[in-house]
Amino acid sequence: MRESYSPKQFQIPWPYTGAIFGPEEEEVVSRMIRDAATKRRPLDRRSPEIVEFENQFATYIGAEYGVALSSGGTALEVATRILGIGPGDEVLISALTFKATVLPIVLAGAIPVPIDIEYQTLNLDLDSLESRITAKTKAIYVVDYAGLPLDPEPLLRISREHGIPIVEDAAHALGAAHGNVKCGAWADLSCFSFQSQKNMSTLGEGGLLTTNSRQHADRARAVRNYDHDVQAGGNYRLSAVQCAVGIEQLKRLDTVNAQRRAIGRRMSAELRKIPGFVTPYEPEGVTHCYHMYPCRLDGSVFSTVRDTVRKRLWDEYSVGTSFQYEPWYEFPVIRSAMGEFQPCSVMDRVARELFGLPIFPGYSDDEVGYVIWSVKEVLASL
Ligand SMILES: Cc1ncc(COP(=O)(O)O)c(C=O)c1O
Repeated sequence: MRESYSPKQFQIPWPYTGAIFGPEEEEVVSRMIRDAATKRRPLDRRSPEIVEFENQFATYIGAEYGVALSSGGTALEVATRILGIGPGDEVLISALTFKATVLPIVLAGAIPVPIDIEYQTLNLDLDSLESRITAKTKAIYVVDYAGLPLDPEPLLRISREHGIPIVEDAAHALGAAHGNVKCGAWADLSCFSFQSQKNMSTLGEGGLLTTNSRQHADRARAVRNYDHDVQAGGNYRLSAVQCAVGIEQLKRLDTVNAQRRAIGRRMSAELRKIPGFVTPYEPEGVTHCYHMYPCRLDGSVFSTVRDTVRKRLWDEYSVGTSFQYEPWYEFPVIRSAMGEFQPCSVMDRVARELFGLPIFPGYSDDEVGYVIWSVKEVLASL
């Protein structure tokens, strides 16, 4: 790696694509279009690629069942519906997540309750979780933020002891694992997204729900296909062409994740030398998939400079960053569905300090070196 670069030597905008595509995906899409044109081959829900993708994905994760859906958001909606969450129910949700985890609860007329996070992991704080359980608690929604897997064991204990199901929002955690347990293998229902920025993508949009419950899988399949027997369903299907692409993407996932991990670790090795710069936590025994690279500027060292740093990285160095996510409990539509809630002081602090550096498996050594160098330059000149 070079020691020095010049400003704007590279353009590193925020990576709105996170997956790697190649000739295999191109070939499979072309073949399906050719077959539709020349053999009148249907491309709808009867196509074998859908079940094939579901089975391959579930096997890869180590879950019994997979149900392909049109997005990560619809997977969360379907999970919420099949758990029968409704008016008056409380659902405990990690304070740091995308609004897609929370809006299905609001849509169902239930009450979202934010649970504070740990400063180090940015994942749910277990003590806060247990203290918020009430007689009205209907479910717990957890998130493997940025691709750092949750430890299933204490969560399963809490779930068993209180008789409350867990929905895992694993949108960030494709292929991530705690020990040898992959995200998506242990919760009552786990929701994945294949949206464009994710570590694998089914042509820009897509989702999938995994579960070990036959009953849940059957319900999810019914709800995605206009169920009218048990509850009103809709069309939440993922197309056969997208599933065929998913099969190819799954073959690449471990390689893509290894590339992301190598980049993430290299950035951390350099950036953690800067006092007050907090890099993503990656404990022993955990396979982080670095969907994102969330870092923080410790307020006691840097005080209120996060937005200045982000702006200067973009204006002076063409390095795009993100802020994922603002506290969801401050959004008006969600807030109006909530009752009184305990403050989330760690999340409030993280919201002032957090930003994401760009990470993409296709970056060259120099592009990664340039991002590191740019961050050092900006922080040294504050
Ligand atoms: C944590 C989280 N949950 C859910 C979603 C929703 O997924 P989708 O965009 O596929 O609806 C996303 C992102 O897109 C996400 O980051």
